[in-house]
Amino acid sequence: MNRDDFPMLNHDIVYFDNSATSLKPVSVIEKMNDYYRNYSANAHRGDYDLSFKVDQEYENTRELVKEFINAKCLEEVVFTSGTTEGLNMIVNGFFANLLEKGDEVLITTSEHASNVLPWFKLVETLGIEVNYIPLDKNYYVTMDNVKKAITNKTKVISLAGITNVIGDKRPIKEITKYAHDNNIFVVVDGAQMVPHIKVDVQDLDIDFLAFSGHKMLGPTGIGVLYGKLELLEHLEPINLGGGMNESFDSPEEVYLKPLPIRLEAGTQNIAGVIGLSEAIKYLNNIGMDNIIKREHDLRNYLIDKLLKIKYIDIINLESDSGIVAFNVNNVFSQDVAYYLNKYNICVRAGSHCAKILKSAVGITNSVRVSLYFYNTFEEIDNLVELLSNYDKIVSEMI
Ligand code: ALA
Repeated sequence: MNRDDFPMLNHDIVYFDNSATSLKPVSVIEKMNDYYRNYSANAHRGDYDLSFKVDQEYENTRELVKEFINAKCLEEVVFTSGTTEGLNMIVNGFFANLLEKGDEVLITTSEHASNVLPWFKLVETLGIEVNYIPLDKNYYVTMDNVKKAITNKTKVISLAGITNVIGDKRPIKEITKYAHDNNIFVVVDGAQMVPHIKVDVQDLDIDFLAFSGHKMLGPTGIGVLYGKLELLEHLEPINLGGGMNESFDSPEEVYLKPLPIRLEAGTQNIAGVIGLSEAIKYLNNIGMDNIIKREHDLRNYLIDKLLKIKYIDIINLESDSGIVAFNVNNVFSQDVAYYLNKYNICVRAGSHCAKILKSAVGITNSVRVSLYFYNTFEEIDNLVELLSNYDKIVSEMI
């Protein structure tokens, strides 16, 4: 990994907001530029060379994604606009047709809004119940708590693989094993997981997975929905239109294309798909094991330093990712972010779209540092030095 690969890192910034979105290597940017400059035709529609080239690049990314997550076949890989769209497709295209009044979906209070609100909608429209697997004292999901939370009404467990504030990694393999033994589906929000650790959907036996390209070095507006083929076959398209139909003559005679194209109506984010291929190649070249190791080293270094600052409360002392959430005593989190911004340090502050986490943690706001492999120990020193001067924080925060 060469930091010079990331043009944004030449901008004299310290970028610690990688859970919101990651920076892009030049290979991703150039791949998209090349598409727009040199073969900017539509996909799956043309009968000319340029268009064949687009199809080839587009489908080549699907192959790369399939290998990256070890899906069984290409039909299991559907391009979306991101995790949010993927989760909404899963909930509204599959579970809305399957669940009935009184059925239960288990989530946790540390889920991101995208894995809460679509289920809440089914509470309103179908009368399902959404209940919560309790978190332990470190805000982790334990198998004991999963087992205790399951009832004879539970039909789905829907969880982030790694959460976006606590950064804890869920025991997905154990959960799917136990859930499947009890005829329960498992949906995984992979937004914070797929960019950081090796995900093998067959080994984990995940039923549905959604993730975003932009958090894993790829473009914004591109994501992936994975589903086991036999389940995806029953996922009804939310979007109907061009590209996804075989023929239609009347409402009674509408014939759709097979997977995965059936779920990709309209002109897709072609540049995004093509750019994603370079992001995956970049991650593969570094190796996912090296990425998580680097993040752990950086995180431990940061935690050790923050622990020495007596007016800082770290929320997630235990975590499996590069996420550190904390507060400075008596200083509003956004004021801390604003103060750091004066020194070109980018962190996120607030509730981080995990608005019901407050019921477990007891606070609504925090400062979040989310690290990626291109961050450095020197950048952490820079942050810690700024946080080590309480008077300066207070005097400069507004
Ligand atoms: N979901 C993204 C985050 O956690 C935006 O910051």
